[in-house]
Amino acid sequence: MIALIWAQDENGLIGANGQMPWHLSADLKRFKALTSHHTVVMGRKTFAGFKRPLPKRQNIVLSHQSLDLPAGVQQFKTLDDLWALNAKQPDEVIFVIGGATVYAAVLPQADLLYQTQIQHAFDGDTWMPAIDYTQWEVTAKQTVAADDQNPWTFSFTDYQRR
Ligand SMILES: NC(=O)c1ccc[n+]([C@@H]2O[C@H](COP(=O)([O-])OP(=O)(O)OC[C@H]3O[C@@H](n4cnc5c(N)ncnc54)[C@H](OP(=O)(O)O)[C@@H]3O)[C@@H](O)[C@H]2O)c1
Repeated sequence: MIALIWAQDENGLIGANGQMPWHLSADLKRFKALTSHHTVVMGRKTFAGFKRPLPKRQNIVLSHQSLDLPAGVQQFKTLDDLWALNAKQPDEVIFVIGGATVYAAVLPQADLLYQTQIQHAFDGDTWMPAIDYTQWEVTAKQTVAADDQNPWTFSFTDYQRR
């Protein structure tokens, strides 16, 4: 199974200068809880924005180039490698963790969506591709008000393909 997981602002913004445009600790905790002990697949630019591979997860980086990656990090040169991995272990959730070009390419084959939406407008340069939500059923939704730890109200929404 393939899941997309991302956080966006109220306009669908997801990135700024190669980084996330915000720091939202509740979202980072949820991301860690959902993805730990699973495979995470990301584009070269998203991986370049990390200080190190994400611990306790099999990190896979998509790139057409031959990359010099840290030990333990795998590379996929095409999405066919992702489809093959998914076919080999269909009951395992593979988390696609960005960025925009990878979300757009994988969306048609995705089974699950884990969206965080922050009720605020940020500045940035990278947006989530358009999603036709009529194709998706909400399976869980939680809205959390701003507090000392999390400066903006946000929602977690889980979807499965109809
Ligand atoms: N808010 C969030 O939840 C979230 C999550 C993730 C990322 N982001 C943000 O999104 C931004 C980066 O997104 P982005 O769209 O610019 O870059 P990206 O998707 O992270 O990386 C793009 C690169 O990935 C490789 N790639 C993509 N599709 C491929 C395919 N089908 N086959 C082989 N390689 C493929 C290519 O690398 P080569 O050029 O080497 O071939 C491409 O240039 C950053 O600002 C990041 O912080 C936000």
